[in-house]
Amino acid sequence: MCKMARVAAALIRVMFHVVAVAVPVKSLAGVAKVAFALINQRCLGYMDQAALGRSYTGTFCGDALVGAMAHSWRILVQGLTSLMFLCVHADEYVRPPPSPLVLVAHDKPASHPQQVHISVVGANNMRISWVTDDRKAPSVVEYGKSPGKYTTLATGEHTTYQYFFYKSGAIHHVTIGPLEPSTTYYYRCGRAGDEFSLRTPPATLPIEFVVIGDLGQTGWTASTLSHIGAADYDMLLLPGDLSYADTQQPLWDSFGRLVQPLASARPWMVTEGNHEIETLPVVEFAPFVAYNARWRMPYDAGDSPSGSNLYYSFDAAGGAAHVVMLGSYAPFEEGSEQRRWLERDLARVNRSRTPWLLVLLHAPWYNTNEAHQGEGDRMRRAMEKMLYDARVDVVFAGHVHAYERFARIYDNEADSRGPMYITIGDGGNREGLALRFIKDHKSSHLSLFQEASFGHGRLRIVNETSAVWSWHRNDDDHATVRDEVWLESLAAAKSALAKTARRHADEL
Ligand SMILES: [Fe+2]
Repeated sequence: MCKMARVAAALIRVMFHVVAVAVPVKSLAGVAKVAFALINQRCLGYMDQAALGRSYTGTFCGDALVGAMAHSWRILVQGLTSLMFLCVHADEYVRPPPSPLVLVAHDKPASHPQQVHISVVGANNMRISWVTDDRKAPSVVEYGKSPGKYTTLATGEHTTYQYFFYKSGAIHHVTIGPLEPSTTYYYRCGRAGDEFSLRTPPATLPIEFVVIGDLGQTGWTASTLSHIGAADYDMLLLPGDLSYADTQQPLWDSFGRLVQPLASARPWMVTEGNHEIETLPVVEFAPFVAYNARWRMPYDAGDSPSGSNLYYSFDAAGGAAHVVMLGSYAPFEEGSEQRRWLERDLARVNRSRTPWLLVLLHAPWYNTNEAHQGEGDRMRRAMEKMLYDARVDVVFAGHVHAYERFARIYDNEADSRGPMYITIGDGGNREGLALRFIKDHKSSHLSLFQEASFGHGRLRIVNETSAVWSWHRNDDDHATVRDEVWLESLAAAKSALAKTARRHADEL
């Protein structure tokens, strides 16, 4: 009976994969891709169980055999990727191969909070999100300004979701506050487990954002995270592609545990990438099921609620900066909800009170890399003028696994009143780097810096007029600043332009 159940389960798993991949399989390459994915998933499953100290097959000999096969597979994949990277011409810096997955196991009791991360809600509240395997664990957060002394308790809610055979733990969301700015709070989730601390963002400038896209959960992700954590910052902005779970739901849990040390201490504000969609052909799961349940953002808070977790905005530094998170995978054309909301949102921004206006989205509007060419064009055509008219200072994108910084641009031409475009999709995901830039691309003359290396960026807004952007490459054990540029707020430039125009009018 037990054997029959195992055979039935195996057959169902095979059917699942066949259904999941039936549509994309149209060639030999497609078959190879499917075979690769199947073997890779099996090896991942083994390594996850091994990390937890559990048996995978139920027998010592079986585990030894599967373990040897999994490690051989891992060495093969690493070898192939290393060979690929060696074959690619590199000018001065030997590019690293993609690193194996870093899986973080959970070996605590079911009620123990895990995957803790925080996000800002309105001017002075913070959402605490976490997961418990125990679906009856309470959604409460105790917090205070001293370690172990919790003066306030807040209650929230929890949700769960089902994805094929996977059922999530309880995903808790509790909003705490009002909180004081630039203040450290100590907190505990669900009356159990570890104590965490967070620091609230400042209410005035200066403020420092870390920006990183396409993070994943590899050794390079771990390297990026350690470099981010080595220097202080106020808030992290992530323009899409978080876990690279790609329908393997336990990888969402592992990702949550990997980022917890940083994401529980500073707000992580994210928007969605294509890897968050997770629909399956034929079976047709709704898109963004895991993402929306796990990474709830303040789309229903503040003065400009969007009504969708896939796009939203918030103020930072007491309103000196307005950050707009757009959804590359939500409708954005004329007449769409997102576009109508963006019009309302940008119209509310008073640039005399808000000198800095930042936008994040996933698929870049300007890109000279061979990867993902033209994928952001439709969105650019639909929304670029709105951002230009609002004098957006910087547009950050991910998706392309490399770093690229452009000049200020409007409509494919250099324009001092347009946003600076930066692609920062080099967090460290398992797909590796996008190594080739197109030398004679129509936007090449606008591209000021290109490098295919893993790393992260920092935007430090110093005051109302000046900010400094830097890109930090993962260079072995330390982060190296490879690109740095000072920016002047376009709000300041706008008033200067207005004064010039007025003077010319007076002269006439
Ligand atoms: Fe992407």
